[in-house]
Amino acid sequence: MQVKEMAKKTVADIDVKGKKVLMRCDFNVPLDEDCNITSDDRIVKALPTIKKILDGGGALILMSHLGRPRGQRDEKLSLAPVAKRLSELLQQEVIFTEDCIGPETKAQAGALTDGDCMLLENLRFHKEETIKDKAAKEDAQLRQAKDDFARQLADLADVYVDDAFGTTHRDNASMYTVPVLMEGKPRVIGFLIEKELQFLGETLSNPERPFVAILGGAKVSDKIGVIENLIDKVDRIIIGGAMAYTFLKGRGKSIGKSLCENDFIDKGQKLLYQAAEADCEVILPADHDVVRKLKAGAPHRTAVGDIDPGYLAVDIGPIAIKSFSRKIADAKTIVWNGPMGVFEIPPFDRGTKAISLAVAEATDKGARSIIGGGDSAAAVKKLGLENRVSHISTGGGASLEFMEGKKFKCLEILDDK
Ligand code: 3PG
Repeated sequence: MQVKEMAKKTVADIDVKGKKVLMRCDFNVPLDEDCNITSDDRIVKALPTIKKILDGGGALILMSHLGRPRGQRDEKLSLAPVAKRLSELLQQEVIFTEDCIGPETKAQAGALTDGDCMLLENLRFHKEETIKDKAAKEDAQLRQAKDDFARQLADLADVYVDDAFGTTHRDNASMYTVPVLMEGKPRVIGFLIEKELQFLGETLSNPERPFVAILGGAKVSDKIGVIENLIDKVDRIIIGGAMAYTFLKGRGKSIGKSLCENDFIDKGQKLLYQAAEADCEVILPADHDVVRKLKAGAPHRTAVGDIDPGYLAVDIGPIAIKSFSRKIADAKTIVWNGPMGVFEIPPFDRGTKAISLAVAEATDKGARSIIGGGDSAAAVKKLGLENRVSHISTGGGASLEFMEGKKFKCLEILDDK
């Protein structure tokens, strides 16, 4: 996807003075058991757009989802902690509504004055938010329900702003139906989406070489589209994580009890063949950290090549760490999505940590690096390396779909420059 295709008007292109501005954010932040926010990254990254609107004299109505409550009210997934944190960051009151729609919310929105900031309760407490457009097209009742819900949100404001990059691959009512219903009013993107599109777009369309993609995580099926799209663009694809074992089994290796998607073995081999045709080098792990049973403290050892029956791979091994790091060292462009092992259970995080360091070192030497996906981003942050990579995307699924070359229909309908 070319950046120019995505040249959308931003909040900098419009005048919001005296207007009610409805802004979709992705405040889907991680919470601990007591509902404390464990990373406010997504809130902090929305601040430039929020401040621009408030400083410009707009009355701001923020909306977001949190988790997947499946249309039920769930106090553990309330956005109340986000309202509190946002209020601290902005150093101003953030009015928090009981519900995202309804007469009370409408009255509260109507009473806002210039520079006020309000956050609506979790959109996904209403099942209409996540009705898929395909289902709505096939079922008139669902379409009506989604439209009615979206209409109540759309009627709150004069301007629509989308800064929820992490949700751009969804056709949720607030992402798509609301801006459709607000046709004729300004509908623009925020600075976070602008930055994400610039980074991802420019990197994919104009990479300095060698261009290296590092893919990990559990499932090949999640990454097939990305691999297909990247084969013609990158010089090397490094594959770690459990997804590597579907490829290795296809190559005739014994993988023991390691995760494998048998339905995708053939597809995986076809991709390797396509890559070879396109002169794209694919690097798979030559050795593995293996255990008999996946649990914290499990005894582990290195298996070179084949994995014995009864064992499963939980991380890449030392030879793979070395060869992957060497293949990253001279890269000029790097995209990374997905961990190399069971990152959440140390010491099976060694591979992911080593790759984080290799990416940071290549960036120090001038590479442009983009990290997408919760676990790879968490690894980089845990090691304090966030300032040694070029960009950490706020979108896991969204950045993957962007790399797949998919179009984001919720962005396509917004105002062009
Ligand atoms: C994310 O965290 O990837 C986004 O907030 C999207 O959440 P979802 O996968 O529940 O739609």
